Amino acid sequence: MSSTAAVEAHELPPGPDDPPALQARRFLGDPWSYLRETSERFGAMFTLRPLYLPALVVISDPALVQELFTADPAALHAGAANRVLEPASGAHSVLLLDDDEHLARRRLLLPAFRGERLASSASVVSGLVARELDRWPLGEPIALHPRFRSIAADVMLAVVFGVEEEDRWPELKKDVLSIQFDEQRQRARAALHEIVAVARRDGSSSHVLAMLLGGHDAHGRPLGDEEIVDELLALLVAGQETTAGSLAWAVERLSRHRAAQDLLRAAVRCGEDAYVDAVVSEVLRVRPVLQWSVRRPTEAFTLGGWSIPAGTLLAASLYLLHLRPDLFPEPDRFKPERFLAAGRRGTYTWVAFGGGVRRCLGASLALLEMNTALRQIVDRFVLLPPHDDAGDEGWRRSGITYVPAAGATVRLSLATLAPVTGIDAGRRPTAGVRR
Ligand code: HEM
Repeated sequence: MSSTAAVEAHELPPGPDDPPALQARRFLGDPWSYLRETSERFGAMFTLRPLYLPALVVISDPALVQELFTADPAALHAGAANRVLEPASGAHSVLLLDDDEHLARRRLLLPAFRGERLASSASVVSGLVARELDRWPLGEPIALHPRFRSIAADVMLAVVFGVEEEDRWPELKKDVLSIQFDEQRQRARAALHEIVAVARRDGSSSHVLAMLLGGHDAHGRPLGDEEIVDELLALLVAGQETTAGSLAWAVERLSRHRAAQDLLRAAVRCGEDAYVDAVVSEVLRVRPVLQWSVRRPTEAFTLGGWSIPAGTLLAASLYLLHLRPDLFPEPDRFKPERFLAAGRRGTYTWVAFGGGVRRCLGASLALLEMNTALRQIVDRFVLLPPHDDAGDEGWRRSGITYVPAAGATVRLSLATLAPVTGIDAGRRPTAGVRR
């Protein structure tokens, strides 16, 4: 039902009548099976009422998701829906802002994550990944999620904060990796204040920081140090664990899908970028580390025939949308080739980075990082399950992300340099090509 055909309704869409405490437990502890079960019972729009949280209307119909993403941003706030992140990212960051202030901050930051500026980060990312891979042991089970956290932290320090390894903040990486704890967060804030002060004095090596130092708010006022530090922390909160978790899922999936892994290796060695992109898209589809894109109506908002009251949370479920068999046949199967056909990553069907004016600001950096890391990994190593009868890893909550429960544990062996076959867009092997 479209919003134009909407009728005034005084109730929210139906949902489970489990007690709120049970809803909270299942919703936080095992959201994936709870969401699936609930959508099987109630369809593509239902309401959860977990204890201590506002009612949450969950949607997984692409037409409704489109309405959510294209609605007037003044009618649907995301900053207000993200309040839970305030202790980590501070109140003055793009994650928490709405309306004109949000748009001004996005306009300021976006160029730093695009085009030439992003391209200039590629060699930095590649060097950081190569350095980490040199330390990976062969033959024994190794949990790669912590290793990806380390890479993602290095990328943040270098690309976003402009801090090189030999710089004068040796403790910052440790603090960044434990940013969820008060003490480490306070220390990281103090270091970031110093970094901002030095950058103001000497200029910054990071495009992001340079943009912020020269930037203004919606009223034309220059940003103060506190606002800049909030922003740097917000980028860290939004970008580090998400990228690390997604890379962890990538190796978990590839270690369990040898044919896809071999095709990826062949594609990397033949310069077949399309298959590499397809693997990344499929990982983000089938194992989204974030659950939702959330918005909070500022006044009653009409969606799917319901009048959703102000204050309710409206959530596009990335997981449920990505598991729709009408959009992605055999949705549970890891099948990168589904993304080889043109137009398969629809704006309102593949939503790993959310959408509309709140779409992930760091999406291009995240894709660059995943692409760079996976290329190097499969070129050097064969990823094997930790033991012969290992099943798939389940989900574990880690801060705001959901990551492989056993830390993406795999065994590595050296990849052969022998001739490989290429692939074409129809996933057929082509003539032998040597690296
Ligand atoms: C694979 C890695 C990543 C995933 C899956 C991811 C996913 C997302 C999602 C789902 C959103 C919410 C969008 C919405 O509400 O519609 C988001 C927002 C955001 N992300 Fe990412 N993200 C990733 C990496 C990054 C990186 C590397 C950065 C920056 C360095 C970043 C910065 C942001 C920011 C600033 C926002 C808020 C945008 C706004 O409110 O205007 N993300 N991301």
